Formats: sequence, structure tokens, C-alpha cells
Amino acid sequence: MSEPYKIITVPAGVLKETASPVSRVDDTLRTQMDRMVETMYQANGIGLAANQVNILNRVFVMDLSARMNREEGEPVFMVNPEIIWRSEEPSVMDEGCLSIPEQFAEVERPKEVRVKYLDYDGNEQEEQFSDLASHCVQHEIDHLNGVLFIDYLSRLKRNMMIRKVQKITKNQPLL
Ligand code: NI
Repeated sequence: MSEPYKIITVPAGVLKETASPVSRVDDTLRTQMDRMVETMYQANGIGLAANQVNILNRVFVMDLSARMNREEGEPVFMVNPEIIWRSEEPSVMDEGCLSIPEQFAEVERPKEVRVKYLDYDGNEQEEQFSDLASHCVQHEIDHLNGVLFIDYLSRLKRNMMIRKVQKITKNQPLL
């Protein structure tokens, strides 16, 4: 089992930074991805981007089945992901984020996206996602560009959520 990272929460500056492309998928990067998956599973998340563990490279992990039963999880690893097509049809879903604990809001995004990325072995892949998977992929790619789901809300709502998170995280014991 890999050692999990500490998850960074708002309003940390690293969450607003743009991550840099990865030049090579090697064992060092695979170790990072393994640790990210472990971090995501322990936190009961379905997606986690590198910014959220204080690393500024373009990597995210996702496992839509992980929430309920991690034994059956099949993690997806994406390196240098790029959206190459978006559907005109929109989709509205409630989103949350491990960096914004216990806060949820409706976000509108394209219902389907097609993504080009490098997988765990560094092979180029192209894949289409819809509904929850599409929201998740777009949410994680946003992270790599320093964008959070609360950035789509009004400033009032956004600031309220950040204050709530600050209150929650202040009372958490440091482990
Ligand atoms: Ni997130």
C-alpha cells in the first residue's frame, strides 16, 4: 500500500496555480500516482488532481466506483489530459471537492467530453466520457488549471464556502 499524501484545502495558493506538463511517465511519476490513488481512496473521493497534494504537474486520478467499495475500484490515471471535444448539450450536477470539504453546489458543464491523455504506462489514449465521469474529468482538469468548482458560483457563495472550510479545517487535529 502506498503512503497517502496530505490533502490541501482552500484557500491555499497551490489550488490556484497552473500545473506544468509532464515530460516523461516514469517510475517516480507512477509512485506519485499510486500515492494519489491511495489518498483519494482514504478520503472517499472519486477524483484527485496533483495540485490538491501540493504537486504542480498535470496528473489526476479518478475512480467512480471507489466511493462505495474500494475493493472493486478500477482507478484511471491521466497524465497531460487535454479536452479535444465538448458536447453542445449541457449537464447540471452537484459537485464537491476534497479540497473544499463538506461543500456542494450545482455546476453546469458539457454533458460529454473527449479527452486525450497519457496513461499509467505512458501510452497515448483517447476516450469519451459522459455525465458523472464527464463532470469528474472536467473538474480535475480544472484543478490542473487552478480552477475550482466554486469559481463558477457567485462571489458571495464562494466566500461563504471558503469560510466554512476554514472553520472545519481549523478544528481538525493535525495527524
Ligand atoms: Ni476537486
